[in-house]
Amino acid sequence: MKFAKEFYRILDDNGSLVIDIGGSWNKGKPTRSTYHFELLIELTKMFHLAQEFYWYNPAKLPSPAEWVTVRRIRVKDSVELVIWLSKNPFPKADNRNVLKPYSKDMQRLIDNGYKAKQRPSGHNITNKFRKNNNGSIPPNLLQMGNTDSSSKYLKMCKKNNIKPHPARYPKGLPKFFIEFLTELGDLVFDPFGGSNVTGQVAQELKRKWVSFEIIENYLIGSQYRFPKVYQY
Ligand SMILES: C[S@@+](CC[C@H](N)C(=O)[O-])C[C@H]1O[C@@H](n2cnc3c(N)ncnc32)[C@H](O)[C@@H]1O
Repeated sequence: MKFAKEFYRILDDNGSLVIDIGGSWNKGKPTRSTYHFELLIELTKMFHLAQEFYWYNPAKLPSPAEWVTVRRIRVKDSVELVIWLSKNPFPKADNRNVLKPYSKDMQRLIDNGYKAKQRPSGHNITNKFRKNNNGSIPPNLLQMGNTDSSSKYLKMCKKNNIKPHPARYPKGLPKFFIEFLTELGDLVFDPFGGSNVTGQVAQELKRKWVSFEIIENYLIGSQYRFPKVYQY
C-alpha cells in the first residue's frame, strides 16, 4: 500500500495501473492465502477497479507438489489475477486495438451470411451480427504460456554468465495491456521490472518506458533485450 500511494501520485489521470499478482498457498496447509483478494479490496479504496483479468498459463507446473501431485487433493493452479485499476472510471482504453482473429465458424458466418432469427436461448441475432469488425473482442481470460527458452535474452545471459530472471512474463501479457490502454508515444512504467519484458515490449510498440529493478544482476541481464546502442 506504500507503493500504491506513490503509483496514484504519478499516474496520469487517464492512465491505468495493471498489477499481475499470483495467488499463493498458506504454509504447510492445502489452503489458499487470501492476500491477493485483500490487496484488491484495499486498492479499490484508492483506485477504481476498471476490470479484473485472469492470465491462464497452460504451461504452469503443478504445485505445491505435496497437495497436487503427491496427495492429489488439489488441482493445478494455472491462473493469475491481473487487476486493472484507474484514477477515474474512464481511463484511456480501446478494445479495437486488441481484437482477436475470428474463429473459423464466425468467419464463415461473416462470409456466407446468417439468417436473422431468435436463437433458442432467446437472443435475437440480427443482421448486425454479420458485420465484419476485423476481429472478436477478447475476453478477460488471457491465455498464454511462458515457455520462451530460446530468446536472445537467454542466449546473451548464458554467454555473459548472468543468471536469467526466474519469473519472466510472456511478452504477450504486457503487450495486451500496452496496446489496449496506451497510444503511440505514451509512457509505460514498470516499478518491478525484473528482466524488463515490459520495457522491451513498450519499445517495440513505440511507447516510452521507464523500469526499475532492485537486483543489479537482473538489471544487467535486461540490457540484452535491447539493441547494442542502448546497452551500457
Ligand atoms: C515478478 S518479478 C518481475 C518479472 C518481470 N515482469 C519480467 O518479466 O522479467 C518482480 C521483480 O521486482 C523486483 N523488486 C522487488 N521489490 C522491488 C523494489 N522495491 N524496487 C524495484 N524492484 C523490486 C524483484 O527483484 C523482481 O525482479
